Amino acid sequence: MSSHSETRSNSNGERQQQQQVCVTGAGGFIGSWVVKELLIRGYRVRGTAREPADHKNAHLLALEGAKERLSLCRADLLDRDNLIAVFSGCHGVFHIASPISNTDPDLMVVAVEGTKNVINAAADAGVQRVVFTSSYGAVHMDPNRSSDAVLQESCWSDYEFCKQTGNLYCCSKMMAEITAKEEAAKRGLELVVVVPSVTIGPALQQKLNLGITHIIRYVTGAKKTYPNAVAAYVDVREVARAHVLVYERPDARGRYLCIGAVVHRADLVKLLGDLFPEYQITAKCEDDGKPMARPYRFSNQRLRDLGLEFTPLRQTLYDTVVSLEQQGHLLLPAVPGPERARL
Ligand SMILES: NC(=O)c1ccc[n+]([C@@H]2O[C@H](COP(=O)([O-])OP(=O)(O)OC[C@H]3O[C@@H](n4cnc5c(N)ncnc54)[C@H](OP(=O)(O)O)[C@@H]3O)[C@@H](O)[C@H]2O)c1
Repeated sequence: MSSHSETRSNSNGERQQQQQVCVTGAGGFIGSWVVKELLIRGYRVRGTAREPADHKNAHLLALEGAKERLSLCRADLLDRDNLIAVFSGCHGVFHIASPISNTDPDLMVVAVEGTKNVINAAADAGVQRVVFTSSYGAVHMDPNRSSDAVLQESCWSDYEFCKQTGNLYCCSKMMAEITAKEEAAKRGLELVVVVPSVTIGPALQQKLNLGITHIIRYVTGAKKTYPNAVAAYVDVREVARAHVLVYERPDARGRYLCIGAVVHRADLVKLLGDLFPEYQITAKCEDDGKPMARPYRFSNQRLRDLGLEFTPLRQTLYDTVVSLEQQGHLLLPAVPGPERARL
């Protein structure tokens, strides 16, 4: 097995430790930002994808430091021997890859067996520390939680409720997180869990993921009404920083809720409309006349205690839409509207 780290001199001639880590699902929305953050901090990164040579992963090779310190390799989450080889020589693993769907027939097996394989392969390969990406879908879906309760790390979604309402993705994230915790405990592996809410922000990759699709549908006018619902959002750059922060802090353990803001959809579309008046963004609620759902309280104190600061939602929304325009996903309206706000 190769060594976990090597010492090199940086451009200032200083001796610098370059630790090898692995990121599963490196080409996805969150994975790409985690790779970028790790490269900025001087790590040597091995990124996994199912098709590493596919053009959808090409953006990774253009990241600063990628030429010298990033390698991409194929990994199958259901093939433990393959994972042991991929993790060999790594000090840490960031397990981010996951099917994100309520209908994928392989959802449960990849989420649960895949996670079991990742944890055990990491232990077999001599990895010290694993960061697992859970989801607030594993935390907030509980119809019996009081509206006054504060959403925090001790909260779990109600599995049966998720199953009955067709939220199988939430079921998969719950089971995967529990599996990660149990397997890591059995194998004596250090495990830290980041629990992001709906993650938005500028995309490094070209392929749109679900959270970004959620925003783009309002901006293009594809959504004619908005639901009477609240949701929690966070900036992808904070999600990436949170992953690296909990990895680097040896005292970090357990779950870290990564939420920037909880807002009613009315406030989300109002913010978008104020920022981008040239787009036709709906102002109509599906549930006109009914009592409005109330945003709930949440705590992101554990991450704040580690020094993480959260970007205001307004800035994140602005950066999300500008990035979509720059990538050609949004065409500016032919007739210019009122001048947009500048942030
Ligand atoms: N975005 C959010 O709002 C959000 C919120 C909370 C938690 N999360 C969690 O964050 C992680 C990344 O999400 P994302 O938003 O960045 O999604 P994404 O852009 O769709 O990326 C998903 C990644 O998972 C990999 N993947 C999907 N199905 C797979 C399978 N069957 N086998 C192996 N790999 C598979 C994909 O790899 P390939 O490149 O090989 O396709 C891709 O890299 C997931 O664990 C998700 O549950 C996301």
